[in-house]
Amino acid sequence: MIVVQDVHKHFGGFRAVDGATLKIADGSITGLIGPNGAGKTTLFNVIAGNLQPTSGRILMDGGDVTGEPPHALFHRGLLRTFQIAHEFASMSVRENLMMVPANQTGESLWSAWFSRRRIAQEERRLVERADEVLHFLTISHLADEKAGNLSGGQKKLLELGRTMMVDAKIVFLDEVGAGVNRTLLGTIGDAIVRLNRERGYTFCLIEHDMDFIARLCDPVIVMAEGRVLTQGSADEIMADERVIEAYLGTGLKNKAVPA
Ligand SMILES: Nc1ncnc2c1ncn2[C@@H]1O[C@H](COP(=O)(O)OP(=O)(O)OP(=O)(O)O)[C@@H](O)[C@H]1O
Ligand SMILES: [Mg+2]
Repeated sequence: MIVVQDVHKHFGGFRAVDGATLKIADGSITGLIGPNGAGKTTLFNVIAGNLQPTSGRILMDGGDVTGEPPHALFHRGLLRTFQIAHEFASMSVRENLMMVPANQTGESLWSAWFSRRRIAQEERRLVERADEVLHFLTISHLADEKAGNLSGGQKKLLELGRTMMVDAKIVFLDEVGAGVNRTLLGTIGDAIVRLNRERGYTFCLIEHDMDFIARLCDPVIVMAEGRVLTQGSADEIMADERVIEAYLGTGLKNKAVPA
């Protein structure tokens, strides 16, 4: 469904992404791993339209979407979360969720002027949807909490929740589990699996925690120095000498990797 063809992203002379080619299959939960600085986030930024590639192409369902802005991709059902959560701190958790569709549809004031009733209906629908999402994520009790008061892990759950406010097709998660305690990590993992199975979301997730990756992802794609090094099942990846080599000096954050 997503095809990345020989994508480069250079910053001045520096090749952050240096000819990356990969596919993300429909219905998969694809993992993207690699040492710090491998170019994973930069590649996400290119795919999701936050950065223009220096060269190369991105295809979605066979169509060329290279360089389309994030809001256009949003309408195609492509959503992403950011490595650093960016909530509206002074708004409630529920309001944060309600912002997602409103932000993106570019609702014209003109139509709003003529249809206050429609606006009220729309707002009720958004409240319902937000409350469903909070229930799904098991954080209904936080609905009225200011988002700025959430723990780091709860903010990550909120990031995931944002992708559930609309009917997404493919979601890119950048380290949604980083710095999250084991319990919350379990909740996030469960939510990803359920969204994949029950709602047909395709996921591509960047994560450093190999336990988390191994539990959720097949296949796992490994990036190093701006390119795709290899791809395979989590077991294959963890036994691959080239992968271990790429991580030497940084170390996979998991004891399951053979020494
Ligand atoms: N806007 C930018 N200008 C210059 N260099 C950049 C820019 N963005 C990223 N880089 C560099 O590109 C390289 C790849 O960065 P990127 O954030 O994509 O890595 P990453 O694989 O996501 O790493 P991490 O696992 O630490 O998040 C890094 O060396 C980074 O410093
Ligand atoms: Mg990153």
